[in-house]
Amino acid sequence: MERTDRHCRYFMRLLSPNVRLYTEMVNANAILKGDPERHLAFNATEHPVALQLGGNEPVLLAAAAKIAEDYGYDEINLNVGCPSDRVRSGAFGACLMAQPGLVADCVSAMQASVSIPVTVKNRIGIDDGITCNDSFEFLANFTQQVSAAGCELFIVHARKAVLGGLSPKQNLNIPPLRYSVVAQLKEAFPTLRILINGGIRDAGSVMEQLQHVDGVMLGRQAYKEPYLLANLQQACFDGVLNLPKRASIVHSMAEYAATQLTGYTRMHHITRHMAGLYSGAAGARRWRRELAAARTPDDLHHLAEVTLAGD
Ligand SMILES: Cc1cc2nc3c(=O)[nH]c(=O)nc-3n(C[C@H](O)[C@H](O)[C@H](O)COP(=O)(O)O)c2cc1C
Repeated sequence: MERTDRHCRYFMRLLSPNVRLYTEMVNANAILKGDPERHLAFNATEHPVALQLGGNEPVLLAAAAKIAEDYGYDEINLNVGCPSDRVRSGAFGACLMAQPGLVADCVSAMQASVSIPVTVKNRIGIDDGITCNDSFEFLANFTQQVSAAGCELFIVHARKAVLGGLSPKQNLNIPPLRYSVVAQLKEAFPTLRILINGGIRDAGSVMEQLQHVDGVMLGRQAYKEPYLLANLQQACFDGVLNLPKRASIVHSMAEYAATQLTGYTRMHHITRHMAGLYSGAAGARRWRRELAAARTPDDLHHLAEVTLAGD
């Protein structure tokens, strides 16, 4: 949330044609009772793109999933990993791991209403300070029940969620990463597609994980250092093809911005996602400073040509 909006995803897609992009979590009610266009609109270049839903009511989730399918999404992903108190008080997110039967009902209702895949993103376990459900048996039972309802792909954040005791940010850092549990899950369920998430920061680590699981989801590092996606595109899909020049990405984003600056969209809504583009490269600090000052698409074109020529 607050990261992979449609402008961010447009930018990420320029860096990697193949990576699968996920929206921010959208509550099913926001689609059904709010403004679906605001939550669901996306650019055709974003494919393949998955909508992540939050919720716990099978009928509502199924209705929201159907609207999303009609919008053209390629996958519906149910959030069973968010530990925030607000989400927990709504009885969805990570706390749903304690109710695999309900998650199974949500999945089967959604799967019955759409023909695109319905997938789940969950933690390896949950701990609310009273009951600590972080055994492999707990995770395996959850996976068994939810897969029996029709979910064939799980994205597993390799940390337990601590409910009640830690802030959302702490929950992304403090519970230890246990990659071996996710690898064990793949061994126990070889026909399911198991993707790993959590703390993976470079191409070497991605390649190492791919020895054990079917895919890798990147969160923070992809945002902090988006060019990693271009490197992964080359390593995983394109082989010897040339990497895109950062400057050409900036020009493309300037052209995109020129089509978007109507209504409520401001330059900053687009450029804020690009701050990490030069992360680790020469001129990164200057880039961030000048990017923050860019007010028009022409400013962006200028930035690409003058300050960063050749990169
Ligand atoms: C600011 C922020 C917002 C996030 N929003 C979501 C979200 O909407 N849905 C979700 O499943 N995970 C969300 N996450 C969690 C990430 O998807 C990911 O599971 C977590 O950061 C661990 O992976 P990483 O170490 O690669 O970042 C968010 C994380 C951050 C830092």
